[in-house]
Amino acid sequence: MKFASTVLGVVVVSAGAVDAWSFSGVWDSFQHWMFGDTPVHHRQIHHHQSESGKATGSLDFTGTNWAVIVAGSDGYFNYRHQADACHAYQILRANGYPEDHIILMMKDDVANNIRNPFPGNLINQPGGENVYEGCKVDYRGSDVTPENFEKVLTGQKMHVGNGKTLKSGPDDHVFVNFIDHGGVGLIAFPEGKIVTSRQLHSTLEKMKDNDMYGKLVFYMEACESGSMFDNLLPNDWNIFATTASTGNQSSYATYWDMSRRTFLGDLYSVSWMEDSDKHFFIDHAKDIETLEKQYTQVYARTSKSSQPQQYGDIPYANKATIEEFQQYQDNNLNKPNFGRKRRADQLKSGMNGKTYAENRVQAELDAVSSRDVTAQTLQRLMGANDVDDEHQAAFGDIEAELQKEYRNIQRAEDRFMSVAWNVAGSKSNGLHEKYVSSIKDHDCLSDSIVAFHEECHPIDEYHIRFTRVLAHLCDSGHTATEVKSAIVNTPSCQW
Ligand SMILES: *[C@@H]1O[C@H](CO)[C@@H](O)[C@H](O)[C@H]1NC(C)=O
Repeated sequence: MKFASTVLGVVVVSAGAVDAWSFSGVWDSFQHWMFGDTPVHHRQIHHHQSESGKATGSLDFTGTNWAVIVAGSDGYFNYRHQADACHAYQILRANGYPEDHIILMMKDDVANNIRNPFPGNLINQPGGENVYEGCKVDYRGSDVTPENFEKVLTGQKMHVGNGKTLKSGPDDHVFVNFIDHGGVGLIAFPEGKIVTSRQLHSTLEKMKDNDMYGKLVFYMEACESGSMFDNLLPNDWNIFATTASTGNQSSYATYWDMSRRTFLGDLYSVSWMEDSDKHFFIDHAKDIETLEKQYTQVYARTSKSSQPQQYGDIPYANKATIEEFQQYQDNNLNKPNFGRKRRADQLKSGMNGKTYAENRVQAELDAVSSRDVTAQTLQRLMGANDVDDEHQAAFGDIEAELQKEYRNIQRAEDRFMSVAWNVAGSKSNGLHEKYVSSIKDHDCLSDSIVAFHEECHPIDEYHIRFTRVLAHLCDSGHTATEVKSAIVNTPSCQW
């Protein structure tokens, strides 16, 4: 490997943009350098329209690419979120994104969790390749906070982690992938922290006002994730967002793995990523794939469970390709790319002889509501016959855990319903079970959520499923101030 490191030294200095991730990538760049076929940086590639008016796959922007990936949960039961996040990271890296253009935030407490029988290993589909290998986390542990997420997106100076922050400009394309739990009007962060729809909206507004993107694409996996953009994201902000679900339904976990005792992925997330893997690394991007086409494919795979939604600049999604966000613009599109080849090989061996079509069927069969994952996991563990091995022991008293789960959900429901009673009396009956068709007042909802979170109880994984109650109160004309004063008169908030 002495040769490899020598080449690495030469090429990194001479050619600049290399895929230093793998030796093969270096070799690719070395060849360009040796034989004068230098990779072109910041090329302006003109946008070709075919006769049908469809994009032909060439890039139509002059900037570069940036990505922010966030897994907002913690704990082994949420294995799938960090597996999704590292999988997204692998796709971007294999597509030429250099490390310093991807910012990855995740607690990083799963790969080496005592409950993981395969330390240092995360997979995102049955028998899949280890997506944790080479997955570089920039903000981990207690640095995965709403404040740091906002700072990263708005390019502020960071004083924690490795200090990476978004440095994108007005011509750049920014890809944001958020994966976690959510509720009506909010998404979650580790340790019971939250971001409301209003807060996310104002972060995006700051990015817009500070010219931090030409186009921004947001893929969001979370329960009730539609509520983060519905009636809120304008269609003239050059932002296209898709979400795993509407604002009134759960998102879905999938791929149960008995040996790991966990779900490996989320249905919406594995659907877009398997689609991208196939497009880029198996089919070698032979056909054009627009953002809209990817959305349609993901919808087809997911919609029996939850219906993915799209918001913002939807016309743009009809002409822009997924390349423009999931592939680094400095990449030399017309040359065989060895970062890609490496991923293609990994995927082939990771598929265990299975086809994407077979995985697709499996993913649909295995889908369970994210809200039921803990209970479902515990129930499956109770039924397992190899219950006394060492890793099983790491789960503790399963039956007690299961009871705790149900008790915590019941308590959370009681708190919301008591607050609602104090606001609306008997009109509050049944609000926790009533669907929110559309959020009318995001200000009231966000303020009410913050009031509940700060003054009643942190909106953790048990409480998160009931914030729809607050949406209904706001929709029927009550104010956040009324919710706030009701909290003071709600004894169960003090427990
Ligand atoms: C759920 O949300 C979708 C889209 O946001 C909406 O069309 C539908 O009416 C809602 N369903 C209910 C039962 O409120």
